[in-house]
Amino acid sequence: MSSSSAAQIDSDVSQLRKRQAEFTEELHGKDMAQHTGMFALMSKDKGKGKEAISKYLKHWDGKVDKEAEQKRLEDYNESTHSYYNVVTDFYEYGWGSSFHFCRFYKGEPFKAAMARHEHYLAYKAGIQEDDLVLDVGCGVGGPAREISTFTGCNIIGLNNNDYQIEKAKWYAKKSNLHNKLDFVKGDFMNMDFKPNTFDKVYAIEATCHAPDLQQVYSEIYKVLKPGGTFAVYEWVMTENYDETNPQHRQIAYEIEVGDGIPKMFDIKTATKALENAGFTIEIADDLTDNHDEIPWYYPLTGEWKYVQTLADLATFFRTSYLGRKITTAMVGCMERLGIAPEGSTKVTGALEEAAVGLVAGGKARLFSPMMLFVAKKPK
Ligand SMILES: C[S@@+](CC[C@H](N)C(=O)[O-])C[C@H]1O[C@@H](n2cnc3c(N)ncnc32)[C@H](O)[C@@H]1O
Repeated sequence: MSSSSAAQIDSDVSQLRKRQAEFTEELHGKDMAQHTGMFALMSKDKGKGKEAISKYLKHWDGKVDKEAEQKRLEDYNESTHSYYNVVTDFYEYGWGSSFHFCRFYKGEPFKAAMARHEHYLAYKAGIQEDDLVLDVGCGVGGPAREISTFTGCNIIGLNNNDYQIEKAKWYAKKSNLHNKLDFVKGDFMNMDFKPNTFDKVYAIEATCHAPDLQQVYSEIYKVLKPGGTFAVYEWVMTENYDETNPQHRQIAYEIEVGDGIPKMFDIKTATKALENAGFTIEIADDLTDNHDEIPWYYPLTGEWKYVQTLADLATFFRTSYLGRKITTAMVGCMERLGIAPEGSTKVTGALEEAAVGLVAGGKARLFSPMMLFVAKKPK
């Protein structure tokens, strides 16, 4: 690449970042980090909220043809940025500050199961106290706070959503972990870190937003020190998935639209992408293959029999079928009263589609949100 075209790309990237940062402040307000859930939804600038929602939904019009797919892949950065601008409040309200699924054991409270899932990844990655670790697609920093507390390591969280970065910094300070954690803006498809910087890298249910898995894994490979480990919970379609089967494709589409994912890839594609990036795969283990008595998707099902503790009833109710319907009705009222941005019910509708697709994909074993890969960068 010539130096003038490289300079042009740098300037395009910094303009995009500036625009996204300004938009975020206009949308969420200056003290954006401190509001969560429904209060946060009410404190938005309504005009900007409407704009964010239409930016996110513009590529998801029910079409699954190659042309529509290509548009989603090309616009991954803006559309994911917009997606998290509009869903972060709903995620925090319904799920907490770690935005991922997990396995459940009998008698185990929801929060403990979530934390254990994070500890397991840290353990498999071999994270040590003096490691510098990168969290790729860090959300609002729930996993980084837990993994740093668990191991004592220092973590830098990378995220392309400004709103989430502000929240992650705010939570870190509140938990007195701001000396161990930092959160920075960036695109995982094109990282700014110097090569060979991190001892370990992990990603939890984030790299599924990449339009090209090999590209994101190559970036991770670049910033990892030789001999370093990358551990990921990847979202994949399983070997049972048949892209030419319209019912299967519909399930994958529901997951894509409701989760802001340009394209769901399968296990084979993810495995090849890691190998092509240069990694040596040490573990490839789909954790949904354990046939757990309590399935990973239980909080989305509305099946009360799975709820383990009284304290989990509130979380379960909010994420269950009935709870989601009530949330949609409540958001509909707020939208009509002008206290939530226009289009907010379209967002809850898309989240509803995602929940239906995730449960259907999980039950039919077409989809896994916890394909664990542990891979090494050779010395
Ligand atoms: C489902 S959330 C998971 C967040 C976090 N890992 C957790 O488990 O709580 C996916 C995350 O990936 C981030 N993300 C998506 N596309 C990205 C990109 N191109 N570069 C950096 N981060 C990205 C999103 O902003 C979001 O924080």
